Amino acid sequence: MSSAARPDLAAVPETMLWTLWQRAVEARRPDALLHDPKAVELVDRIDYPFAERFGTSGFQSQLQALRVGCFDREVSDFLAREPRGTVVCLGEGLETQYWRVDNGRAHWLTVDLPEAVALREELLPPGPRQRYLAADATDLAAWADEVDRDRAVLITAEGLLMYLPPDRVKALIADCADRFPGGSLVLDAVPRWFARLTRTGRMRTATYQAPAMPWAMDARERDKLRTASPAVAAVRDVRPAAARGLLGALLPFALTAPPLATRRPSVTVLDFAAPAR
Ligand SMILES: C[S@@+](CC[C@H](N)C(=O)[O-])C[C@H]1O[C@@H](n2cnc3c(N)ncnc32)[C@H](O)[C@@H]1O
Repeated sequence: MSSAARPDLAAVPETMLWTLWQRAVEARRPDALLHDPKAVELVDRIDYPFAERFGTSGFQSQLQALRVGCFDREVSDFLAREPRGTVVCLGEGLETQYWRVDNGRAHWLTVDLPEAVALREELLPPGPRQRYLAADATDLAAWADEVDRDRAVLITAEGLLMYLPPDRVKALIADCADRFPGGSLVLDAVPRWFARLTRTGRMRTATYQAPAMPWAMDARERDKLRTASPAVAAVRDVRPAAARGLLGALLPFALTAPPLATRRPSVTVLDFAAPAR
């Protein structure tokens, strides 16, 4: 039996263990909102004090599952329209979306920092339709040419943009719109009040301090993303599916009634203008 992987990660790259853990906590529940056996398997193979550092909260794992569900739905819809398309996953970490939604024909490109890609390669060796690239996602010169222009493209930035400075978020959107006309970008954002908690060190457990989040966006600010580039042709909110328990009862209000509806975490799709003919 292979020995357990011992990740040596800190700061933002370590957050990929947080999202992995939340998916595994959720997937282990009998009433799970997310089916993710690969995440459970990975957690079992990694030597890291997950529970001690991140806690075991069914509330957090459910929130994470709702966010992941939004991304999975967008990728599945894209693959239904474009079965041979390319999904570019920026800051993919140990996300196991490929094992949840792949259709057997799509191409997948992972772009993440070197230490994250090294761990992903060790734990999730790429299949013939997957490529992993160690690069800064904001440097399109490092990865955009790796994407086949003859295929439709969907770019995802799941749990990534909040860790970037606001000017780099704007530049990344503009560069993607410029390089991938007719493509789309799915991104998520934390609201401003939440980012403030991270910047003042109040998102912590006894042994873990979440890194500061320099970029935030309240849900009501979504349309401002158009200002990143005139090539952003459409902006669409992606709403989570039904939740369980108290959150399930409150979700319809949280999505429609201020102040939470305007200041909630959000998932947004940006469609880029198609190429001129
Ligand atoms: C919260 S984790 C999200 C991982 C995965 N998307 C998920 O949802 O499980 C943040 C990820 O962004 C990556 N990251 C941070 N800054 C990056 C950058 N400039 N370029 C590429 N990846 C980056 C980190 O290495 C990490 O894998």
